[in-house]
Amino acid sequence: MKISDFELYKSLLYDKSGLVITPDKSYLLDSRLTPIAKKWNYATLEAMTLHLRALPDEKLIKDIVEAMTTNETSFFRDTKPFTIFQETILPVLLEKRKTKRTLRIWCAACSSGQEPYSLAMILKEKEAELRGWRIEIVATDISDEILDQAKRASYTQFEVQRGLPIQYLMKYFMQIGEAWQLKDEIRNMIRFSNFNLLDSMSRLGTFDIVFCRNVLIYFDEKNKRTILEKIAGQLENDGFLLLGGAETVLGITDKFAPNPEKRGLYVKTQAAKEGSSSATGSATGSSTSGSSAGSTRPIGSGLTTGLFKRT
Ligand SMILES: C[S@@+](CC[C@H](N)C(=O)[O-])C[C@H]1O[C@@H](n2cnc3c(N)ncnc32)[C@H](O)[C@@H]1O
Repeated sequence: MKISDFELYKSLLYDKSGLVITPDKSYLLDSRLTPIAKKWNYATLEAMTLHLRALPDEKLIKDIVEAMTTNETSFFRDTKPFTIFQETILPVLLEKRKTKRTLRIWCAACSSGQEPYSLAMILKEKEAELRGWRIEIVATDISDEILDQAKRASYTQFEVQRGLPIQYLMKYFMQIGEAWQLKDEIRNMIRFSNFNLLDSMSRLGTFDIVFCRNVLIYFDEKNKRTILEKIAGQLENDGFLLLGGAETVLGITDKFAPNPEKRGLYVKTQAAKEGSSSATGSATGSSTSGSSAGSTRPIGSGLTTGLFKRT
């Protein structure tokens, strides 16, 4: 790829998604964008680039961004965050929210759904204990294509073999031909929606728990900081943030502090609590926080009544 074409894609991807692409990854542009050129009936990638330069088409740009995202994920990925969710976070929040009986959870880059569905299965196992609770799991991603896959919740043998305990496979999936279909009782617990982490988060409402794992690694320090600080604004003061194993807040923002004993787990610092005291709303998730324009109803609001049920 010519340097000028590389620069065009580099700035387009950065502006639209925050993805940083370095010259050594130039081959990825070739291999992932050639099929897009074909899909859009261009004879070559060069022809598509020429057209893009002259007349940027938003739909084509969306396809390009989606093609360049990395969607690697798996059920119970890295195990530990899900143990922390189950054994550390839930007991604390179930005690703290026992009067309101509400919890809002956000999977901020959910890919094909394995991460939110893993959380849903954990919660389903606690159904008796959670009777009468209103629990919302909002799962978002920048890619419509991957969100469609997530909503379908149909997985290959290979995908269910990676991290999913066999008893969950037997209990919550049906084998249909070669595929494993997640049952509706788990599917219906998740509200999927397209959301770009570079955008204002205020329409999402506030959350008790945010999983933002294995996506910040693709961003530069400036965007990491902005995103983490926006998340701090949407997280309840006693809420929890989980990042991926290769991600940290250290040296990036003072809005979060790591739990020294639980790798990947972060809580808001005093500075963040003071800074966001007027930005965060109630723990019910029925409030909107921040003041930016747009929807006044948070994603997922009003979609559940009782435990996990959609109206
Ligand atoms: C590697 S996957 C991580 C999936 C899951 N969180 C996990 O840890 O297994 C990264 C996801 O981030 C999404 N993504 C990339 N840039 C994004 C952005 N600006 N806003 C929202 N999602 C984005 C990609 O589409 C992709 O599905």
